[in-house]
Amino acid sequence: MVGAGRMGGAVGALLVKAGHPVFFSSRHPENLKDLTARLGPLAQAGPVQQAVAFGDVVVMVVPYAALEEIGKAHGPALAAKPLVMDVCNPIARRDGTDLVKWVGEQGGAGLASVKLLQGARIVRAFNGISYRRVGEIAHRAGGLVGVPIAGDDPKAITLAENLIRGMGFEPVLVGGLAMGKYLLPGTPLAEEHTPAEIRQIAAGLR
Ligand SMILES: NC(=O)c1ccc[n+]([C@@H]2O[C@H](COP(=O)([O-])OP(=O)(O)OC[C@H]3O[C@@H](n4cnc5c(N)ncnc54)[C@H](OP(=O)(O)O)[C@@H]3O)[C@@H](O)[C@H]2O)c1
Repeated sequence: MVGAGRMGGAVGALLVKAGHPVFFSSRHPENLKDLTARLGPLAQAGPVQQAVAFGDVVVMVVPYAALEEIGKAHGPALAAKPLVMDVCNPIARRDGTDLVKWVGEQGGAGLASVKLLQGARIVRAFNGISYRRVGEIAHRAGGLVGVPIAGDDPKAITLAENLIRGMGFEPVLVGGLAMGKYLLPGTPLAEEHTPAEIRQIAAGLR
């Protein structure tokens, strides 16, 4: 996990529950002691570089404005991974209106992330579900909640789908990274939907 704040902590906890060893990053890893103690022996914490090096999959859960710096510092290592899951959203009040405008000019958050993390096999996921809810709605009885995903690399998509199923959701591929612009809070695909609802909404967006 690159980023272990509200959403990174929640998504990483679901990965631990699914049985994966998870390395949480912070620029101040001592602040993650409570998180790793709570999650048990599968959870570790340390600096960003160690998190990037740790596993096959890197989950990016940082403010969108941090992606440029992370791409510059860790680009080749990220490009070597079979999957970089991009949970990050460009939000004007946090990341600035200039960045949000630039993202729009690239065709949206999916295609912009590719420019910032060059060569990475990116799949966008979990972008429209709140950190407050993601843990509560995992493994929902009576029908799994759908997670819309977008990506261009078939192997990365398969890997993301398997991880998301293990976390207790049904992944729904809505298209390539060009569709990543719809995987944001405040779009019709955001919040909680059944897989069938996601397919229906996505068909109307193409
Ligand atoms: N909150 C939600 O419900 C939610 C839902 C879906 C998607 N998202 C998206 O997920 C991302 C994170 O949101 P959040 O709410 O979890 O934010 P947050 O609680 O503020 O956590 C941000 C995390 O990013 C790390 N970070 C910040 N700048 C960094 C940098 N330059 N290099 C490395 N790490 C850096 C922070 O680590 P340090 O300890 O080093 O500061 C912290 O772990 C955002 O893009 C957001 O739009 C959030």
